[in-house]
Amino acid sequence: MLTHEMNGFLTRTGPGTPMGELFRRYWIPALLDGELPEHDCPPVRVKLLGEKLVAFRDTEGRIGLIDEFCAHRGVSLWFGRNEECGLRCPYHGWKYDVNGQCVDLPSEPEESGMRKSIKLKSYPCVELGGVIWVYMGPPEEKPPLPNFEWVHLPPSHRVTTKRWQESNYLQAVEGGIDSSHVSFLHRGDLATDPFHRNTAGAKFAKSTTTTFHILDSAGGLIIGARRDADPGNYYWRITQWIMPWYTLIPPYGGGNALNGHAWVPIDDENCMAWSMTFHPTHPIPEKHIELIKDGNGVHAELIPGTFRPVANRSNDYLIDRAKQKSGRHYNGVRGLAMQDASVQESMGTTADRTKEHLRSTDRAIIIARQRLVNAGKEVRKGGKAPGLSPEAQLVRSASFILPAEADFEEHALDAVKYREGAPHVAV
Ligand code: FES
Ligand SMILES: [Fe+2]
Repeated sequence: MLTHEMNGFLTRTGPGTPMGELFRRYWIPALLDGELPEHDCPPVRVKLLGEKLVAFRDTEGRIGLIDEFCAHRGVSLWFGRNEECGLRCPYHGWKYDVNGQCVDLPSEPEESGMRKSIKLKSYPCVELGGVIWVYMGPPEEKPPLPNFEWVHLPPSHRVTTKRWQESNYLQAVEGGIDSSHVSFLHRGDLATDPFHRNTAGAKFAKSTTTTFHILDSAGGLIIGARRDADPGNYYWRITQWIMPWYTLIPPYGGGNALNGHAWVPIDDENCMAWSMTFHPTHPIPEKHIELIKDGNGVHAELIPGTFRPVANRSNDYLIDRAKQKSGRHYNGVRGLAMQDASVQESMGTTADRTKEHLRSTDRAIIIARQRLVNAGKEVRKGGKAPGLSPEAQLVRSASFILPAEADFEEHALDAVKYREGAPHVAV
């Protein structure tokens, strides 16, 4: 349970808020690179941490992420003309380059100096791993580039999708940290989803007695979830939470790809749920890419041309009560991603954490909240944000079966190590 004040501390992300200032110390996934597919392509609206921005790729291929609104009289530059190395406002022709600098102000003589004094807010971007990342923090605090395993893999080895979720980022992150819900919410799909059915992991994950063993890591938490396997053995699933909003999940089925998520605040009532499926040593098969587009595994089926899921809050997630009754979908909603979204959005745009009753299976959530609060306070005092070192991000999730008497910690710390060119540890 949190006080009302603490709930606000953790869930508000706009400029000047403690979490907002903390999150602005990290590279933030802003767009899929395919959203700006070519030079001078149409600009894209991007809202991040409550700030309305517009992204464009200029004539030279440079990416700009600048204030959405024209400095003249506030027209949205989403209507802008992307031409000759700049975005031109269609109202009176003021034009801005990727740094937000006004480069043409047709109504004023250049000698007046007026043009030079007009500059929109802009943030630096990099393209890495199929994602356009932005840094929105103080220039002197800019961290090393993102170093997650999936950003370094060839495009053939990874699939990244994103979907709009109508809730605050924190309840989505907490859903990712809490793997005890898998035995309930995703129970039906463990037996039927093409990435889960007939795997050892899916068989053991049905066990509803989950015990957690949580270790601190440089970037967040290593969360071991223990369930009974065959007599005398435990099935362990190790997920990683990495500051500030990333998780890594082991596959069900040893040969399957790894998965990861990022839940990035759009504003305090909405977040973008990013899902990454990646294999350290193999291309993702074409048939798996098709399954992903169709909303299997950790991905959602999207309304074409948008990032809105086909099943969403406005249509009650297309809930099917017959499938709920039969157990095919435990809460009646199709697909793991939308099962998560449906329950998380049902908590309200920002969950009221003053009324919750946390139990031992929520321990990782409690620790993660504390880590976020501490990090927010540290940055506010002028300190550094945690988890920014390249090593903190270059880790793996894992799953394995261990005899009951074996040392979990020793096995876990070895299994989550990144090994270049070598497959991950998973059963
Ligand atoms: S409002 Fe943009 S040029 Fe006038
Ligand atoms: Fe889930």
